[in-house]
Amino acid sequence: MAISLHRLDPVGADRAALVDFMTRNVFPFHVRTQVAVEDVEGAIRKGVYRNEDNDSYWVEHADLGRIGFLRLEDLTDRAPLFDLRLDGPVRGHGLGVEVLRAATDLVFGTMADVNRFEGQTREDNIAMRKTFLRCGWLKEAHYREGWPVDGGEPVASVAYGTLRRDWQSGTTTALVWEDLVV
Ligand SMILES: CC(C)(COP(=O)(O)OP(=O)(O)OC[C@H]1O[C@@H](n2cnc3c(N)ncnc32)[C@H](O)[C@@H]1OP(=O)(O)O)[C@@H](O)C(=O)NCCC(=O)NCCS
Repeated sequence: MAISLHRLDPVGADRAALVDFMTRNVFPFHVRTQVAVEDVEGAIRKGVYRNEDNDSYWVEHADLGRIGFLRLEDLTDRAPLFDLRLDGPVRGHGLGVEVLRAATDLVFGTMADVNRFEGQTREDNIAMRKTFLRCGWLKEAHYREGWPVDGGEPVASVAYGTLRRDWQSGTTTALVWEDLVV
């Protein structure tokens, strides 16, 4: 696999590179689309990138070098979520699929008590939603008007998930959406 994940040290060796990555990129589908140096430094101080609930990784590509950032969240819940951010210049080339597969391997391959891995994105983040589907993740919720948009109408937040047993078998366990009809 061309992708590998490397745990980063937000308060030590990786601090400057983390601040640089977060501030020179724009994230059009995040609640905060652009952040300042003080925002990232404040987040580092609060443990947003590494504490008992969170851990962060550089995404490295065998040929391209460092291509992005991955944070695992809610690690004490046994059903972590993630935040994935590719570097601007490498977006739009389908690399997200391999990165999400590597993140799933990391979670299920190293966290024995985790059976679910979850992700959420805005309804209009088509690139991320296609990435979920191509990796065999299942849409589990569509929270209408659940995502606030600065200066605009809220959009829906869409939740996807994958299970350890699906990761092991390479399948997607479907659910019956309308399982109760009145
Ligand atoms: C979201 C992200 C991980 C996706 O990875 P990627 O490799 O850049 O994905 P791509 O842009 O190649 O898009 C995947 C698919 O979505 C399609 N797509 C992307 N934007 C689209 C749009 N606005 N309308 C329709 N299709 C779109 C692409 O054409 C591609 O489909 P195809 O292979 O059938 O042509 C990456 O773009 C990223 O890091 N973005 C910024 C941060 C972010 O939004 N992260 C998600 C939060 S969890």
